[in-house]
Amino acid sequence: MMIFACVNTKGGVGKTTVAVHLAVMLARQGRALLIDGDPQTSAASWAAWRRERADGLPSPITTCLSGKAIIHEGKSLVQGYDHAVVDAGGRDSLGLRSALLLAEYAIIPVGASQLDAAALTDVMTIVDLARDYNPRLDVRILLTRVDPRTKDAADMLVFLKGQQLTVLNTMICERVAFRRAIAEGATVHEIGKDYLAIGEIEALLMEVMQ
Ligand SMILES: Nc1ncnc2c1ncn2[C@@H]1O[C@H](COP(=O)(O)OP(=O)(O)OP(=O)(O)O)[C@@H](O)[C@H]1O
Ligand SMILES: [Mg+2]
Repeated sequence: MMIFACVNTKGGVGKTTVAVHLAVMLARQGRALLIDGDPQTSAASWAAWRRERADGLPSPITTCLSGKAIIHEGKSLVQGYDHAVVDAGGRDSLGLRSALLLAEYAIIPVGASQLDAAALTDVMTIVDLARDYNPRLDVRILLTRVDPRTKDAADMLVFLKGQQLTVLNTMICERVAFRRAIAEGATVHEIGKDYLAIGEIEALLMEVMQ
């Protein structure tokens, strides 16, 4: 049993993309619960599009919880599952803070840019506070939407190491397949065209399940 949370106070970094992919991959291994903790309910929209596909793809059970319900109801709900993933909204909120109390493993997707770097202090302050109440919380930075043609990711890694932050070895690049997959209620595996995207997301699963 592992409870993941994809969190960042910054929007558009790929939290939902990573959360739904992780939940689907975990659903291949056992009962998986995807908790949509974002009032904008992007993960729930993805799940609704997925239901319309009706091609019997293995799917996580998706539910929406908001604010403190993420920790209170979430704690009981996850008992019935082998794995759970919480997708939190892209700003500081009760929901994001509750997700960090429920989770055992926080994945913080960040882009490789100056603005992402500057915004990191916000989320790390909240993570540090959460750790006082949830000391076993494992926290890892995931570089996402990386442009492999530039050295932005390498620069960002230097910055992150300097901040004593633990960074996952896996990086997720900016790939059309990720965008398309979400819009179709699918994953990059199911779209099946971009083997680099599939490789990255599989590597992420391997690394976080170690
Ligand atoms: N690796 C990627 N490659 C290409 N597009 C991506 C990638 N990750 C995310 N995107 C796209 O970027 C946008 C934001 O991604 P996503 O919704 O996953 O981010 P988020 O952090 O959950 O945003 P929010 O804070 O609004 O909840 C979406 O249009 C998504 O398709
Ligand atoms: Mg989102």
